[in-house]
Amino acid sequence: MKKIIIAIDGFSSCGKSTMAKALARNIGYLYFDSGAMYRAVALYCMQNGIIEGEKIDTYALRSKIEDIHITFEADQETKNSITFLNGVNVEHEIRSLEVSRLVSQVAALDFVREAMVEQQRRMGKSKGIVMDGRDIGTTVFPDAEMKVFVTASAEVRAKRRYDELTARGDNADYNDILENVLQRDHIDQTREVSPLKKADDAMLLDNSDLTREEQMDWLIEEFNKITAEC
Ligand code: DC
Repeated sequence: MKKIIIAIDGFSSCGKSTMAKALARNIGYLYFDSGAMYRAVALYCMQNGIIEGEKIDTYALRSKIEDIHITFEADQETKNSITFLNGVNVEHEIRSLEVSRLVSQVAALDFVREAMVEQQRRMGKSKGIVMDGRDIGTTVFPDAEMKVFVTASAEVRAKRRYDELTARGDNADYNDILENVLQRDHIDQTREVSPLKKADDAMLLDNSDLTREEQMDWLIEEFNKITAEC
C-alpha cells in the first residue's frame, strides 16, 4: 500500500500527541512531534543564557540556530518517541512549565520556524509518517494526503495538562495552566509567521466529548478511506 503523510494540527493540549502517537503505532508509521522541536529550541535558550529576563535574545539565537539539531528515537522498552537536542535526551525537561512559558516566543521567530520546517521536511522524505503541530498541514506538508485539525474547549485542555503534570509528580496549579493555555492559543493564532489555522482541506475533529477509542476508530476509518483511493 502506498505510504502517505498524515498532518495533525490543532490547539495546545488537546491530546494531539497522544492521538498521533497511537495512530502511528496502529498503522505502523513513524511519529514526529514538531512541538517538541520548538520546545527543545526554548530549552537550548535556557541552557545557553539566550534569555534576557523573560525575553529571548533574538540576536544571539539567530547566530546559533544552525547549531541546533533535533532528532527523535524510539525508546527501546516503551517504543515511545524520545526527543534529542544535539544528541542529548531532553524528553523530560522540554515538558516543564518553564519551557511551556517560553516556547511560544521561540515559535514565533521566523528564522527558528525556517530551520525547524527544513528539519521536518527531511523527516517526511520517505512518507509513512504522522507529524503533529500547528502548521504541518498548512506550511510543512501542504500536500499531505491526510490532514486533521483537532480542537477541544480550553477548560478540557487545561484539565488534561494538569492531569499529565500531576501524574508525573510535578506541582501544578489548574488556574495557572488554564491561563497558559489561553495565552498560548492567543500567541499561536495571532503570530505573523505561520499562525495556527485550519487548512482548507483539513478534517475538523472536536474531541471534547470523545473517548480515545472513539477518536481512534474515526481516524482509522478516515485513513483506510484515503489510502484506498491513493
Ligand atoms: O504542541 P506543544 O504544546 O508541545 O507545542 C509547543 C509550542 O510550539 C506551542 O506554543 C506551539 C508551538 N508550535 C508551533 O508553533 N508549530 C508547530 N508545528 C508545533 C508547535
